Amino acid sequence: MTAIDIRAGDVTLRYETDADGRLRQIGFRPVAADGAGVERASFPPEAFPLAYPAWGEETGATPALRVLNHDGRAGCYLTLDGYERNEAGHRITLTDELAALEVTLCLRTWAEEQVIEQWTEIRHHQPGPVTVGEVAAAAPVVYAPDPWLTRYAGDWASEWLPVTGQLPLGACAVESFGAVRPHLQAAPFFLLAPDGRAAETEGSVLAGALAWGGGVRLAFGRRARQPDLVRLWCGANPAMGGYRLDPGVLFTTPRMIWAWSDEGGRPLTHRLHRWVRTHAVRDGQRIRATVFNTWEAAGFDFDQARLTAMMADAADLGAELFLLDDGWFGTEFPRDDDDAGLGDWQPDPAKLPDGIVGLTGAAGRHGLRFGLWIEPEMVNPSSQLYGEHPGWVTGEPGRPRREERNQLVLDLCQPDVRAFVTGVVDFVLTGNPGVSYLKWDANRDIFEPGSSALAAGRQSNLWIDTVLARWQVMAEIAAGSPDTEMMLCASGGGRTDLGTLRWFHEVWLSDNTDAVARLKMQWEASRFLPPQVIGAHVTRWGDQDLAFACAVAMSARFGFDLDPATLDHTERLACQRAAAIYREVRDLVQLGDMFRLIAPDAGRAALGFADTGRRRYVVFGYQLADAGPSGPTGTGGPASTACPVAGVRPDSAYRVRELSLAGDDRDHGVLAGSSLLTEGLAWPLTAARTAAIWLLEAED
Ligand code: DGJ
Repeated sequence: MTAIDIRAGDVTLRYETDADGRLRQIGFRPVAADGAGVERASFPPEAFPLAYPAWGEETGATPALRVLNHDGRAGCYLTLDGYERNEAGHRITLTDELAALEVTLCLRTWAEEQVIEQWTEIRHHQPGPVTVGEVAAAAPVVYAPDPWLTRYAGDWASEWLPVTGQLPLGACAVESFGAVRPHLQAAPFFLLAPDGRAAETEGSVLAGALAWGGGVRLAFGRRARQPDLVRLWCGANPAMGGYRLDPGVLFTTPRMIWAWSDEGGRPLTHRLHRWVRTHAVRDGQRIRATVFNTWEAAGFDFDQARLTAMMADAADLGAELFLLDDGWFGTEFPRDDDDAGLGDWQPDPAKLPDGIVGLTGAAGRHGLRFGLWIEPEMVNPSSQLYGEHPGWVTGEPGRPRREERNQLVLDLCQPDVRAFVTGVVDFVLTGNPGVSYLKWDANRDIFEPGSSALAAGRQSNLWIDTVLARWQVMAEIAAGSPDTEMMLCASGGGRTDLGTLRWFHEVWLSDNTDAVARLKMQWEASRFLPPQVIGAHVTRWGDQDLAFACAVAMSARFGFDLDPATLDHTERLACQRAAAIYREVRDLVQLGDMFRLIAPDAGRAALGFADTGRRRYVVFGYQLADAGPSGPTGTGGPASTACPVAGVRPDSAYRVRELSLAGDDRDHGVLAGSSLLTEGLAWPLTAARTAAIWLLEAED
């Protein structure tokens, strides 16, 4: 019997082979609870589930792997063939000798963050291609006597909607499609609490995230025969078609990221934030600038004079970077609306007579950095690009082109198209050295599959190959412009995943910037993503109170997206104060440890951010619904009187300042850490959509 222990800090994933050499998964938990509820010693390996069951190996469950072999056989029988361990991680190789198929389970561990990365590689040596039907990045079994799943549904402007419930018997799957902006439909993240609902500081939770920029399937199966075991299936969505794989060619699945906690959600947040900053995002230790964007402020309706006037205002508000969104390009087909110009990346001379250089110069004179919006993977039929290269788009010959937002998807499987997209970015950056930030957008899915770069029998490879081709382009661009910061956007949060993020600095979480809706989205997304990665702008969406909107945006990567000409005196002051206060506390928000103090489900919410020494701590309190004498209206909850501040040092004394967006800061004196922990800060808010910000600084 061979035993393999994968350890990441306290977390252990243990495998053993059975008498036939088949790999069984013995446990997947923090060590203290390893094999919880199972008397390991009394069971032989055969009693445990297969680690990575292929089609035909296990009945009644979705197989981790299903390959249609070259000779037409569909079954598979995998036994352990080798195990290697080095600094790069663990490689467990299983083979099916009869099928000349090799499956390697790859795992990388991060002890400090207690994170495991897991993926699978396949290669075969059959006389011709095989079709890979299902191939999970990971398919572990979790011992879960009372499993509760939180997954995230969504759509445009309603991303990150948490759906929490007890896992029923049978199968439950989270799926997304389309390959371009799948995460609008379902964020590729989940939380599984195996022993009943977990709280912020109590209970066991497994966090999972699939680092994949295409369609995703995260499935959870629980059989009546063994209701305590949940079999997971995490990987690229196989519903999009089998992948034709040639002999000797390596197929690598996306990576699955795992993090466990036996003390509730908070340690998971801290671990994942550290891991993402260090391993999943560009320049994760760098403070992000305060952005002023033009989309909600101006849409397509601007010219050089309006933009330069806005720059003066943006600088006056306290922004540091001016981001010109959609609408700046198109000569023969000016981009005055979303129906023309996409693909033609020359500045529109009617709007911008001095080009982008004229704008970067003006921004510099206002002390602002300058950023540009691009959507380089798309084309409007009304464009020079489409006129010259009608064959560069995805689709099947003979079928009508179907547009969404008046645009078509460029086919990145074609090498010329990849070169064009890389060239767009190169052209924009080389021609305009003053551009130091790009917002990369993508506003439709692929729903007319087909690539002229793929042979007739390989059209279904598109769903994987297009994502890999896009990543190749993004990787080249990131390597070629290491100093350019990049925001990832796809109709809002359609590309929020830990795989694509590695070439970007942040995501645009949603086009929905209503402060209450946004607070809830940020609350959920920040379980996995550190706040400096979550772009949050103050807008006029929903004609909302701007001070409240500022306070919400300040708990992520703060910025503005509104027309300054519409600000009255009070609003302008609130925006200026917000930018100034944010500058004072953003090291805590962007790089500190986050504490969820009051969950936003009973009319109010509070969040805190502390430095690692817990000497400086900022608390954001939000009143979401009017608080009547007996609590927030409509919630029936208790009256809100205090906000305990988890995470302060009990033996320190903190000076407490309330930082006001109206300009009347208040000093609340010095409070003992022990009292802040238990009694907390007095809650000053009663009216809906109001906020308070406190800065706590240790005196000793
Ligand atoms: C969709 C994005 O989510 C918006 O922020 C904006 O950039 C528009 N596209 C521009 O077309």
